[in-house]
Amino acid sequence: MRVTVTLPTVEDTHAFGRRLAGLLRAGDLLLLTGPLGAGKTALTQGLGAGLGVRGDITSPTFVIARVHRPDPTRGGTVDLVHADAYRLGDATDPRAEIDDLDLDASVDDSVTVVEWGEGLVEQLVDAHLRVCIDRRDDDTRVVELTPVGGDWAQRLTALG
Ligand SMILES: Nc1ncnc2c1ncn2[C@@H]1O[C@H](COP(=O)(O)OP(=O)(O)OP(=O)(O)O)[C@@H](O)[C@H]1O
Ligand SMILES: [Mg+2]
Repeated sequence: MRVTVTLPTVEDTHAFGRRLAGLLRAGDLLLLTGPLGAGKTALTQGLGAGLGVRGDITSPTFVIARVHRPDPTRGGTVDLVHADAYRLGDATDPRAEIDDLDLDASVDDSVTVVEWGEGLVEQLVDAHLRVCIDRRDDDTRVVELTPVGGDWAQRLTALG
């Protein structure tokens, strides 16, 4: 089971992120793949808007991860942890590594979004949502969601 969505503009990507955020809850892990400039951070910005968190979401290239706290006035209830896998290493469990960062946020209580570099494959983690973003020649993006474990497949039917 897979959900594929075409996103012609960056605004479409933001809007899709906001929609996807409606399916998320504390403890969720999203692994974002796609080449440089694919739109992983753009999608995360939409997720952040949908989750009602504070702070500008930018590429966490020079930090390993950033925590965005919920803004109750915008309906926010959970932290968004936004991490860059380049800095996390590729042979271990990103959940454990993120918890080890001592961010004052835990993966069990947060929505965790990890941007993976191109060519990195999914790791031995529990349930997660794989989000692959591809860039077409005409500059549109195609996002493919693959549920891995948990109740992700069931939750994705809400997007159909
Ligand atoms: N349909 C689209 N969806 C997302 N971004 C788009 C789209 N069309 C154009 N863009 C542009 O592409 C760029 C995407 O950059 P973004 O930082 O989100 O990519 P990234 O995958 O996070 O890259 P990196 O691997 O460097 O972190 C932005 O400048 C955005 O405006
Ligand atoms: Mg990025």
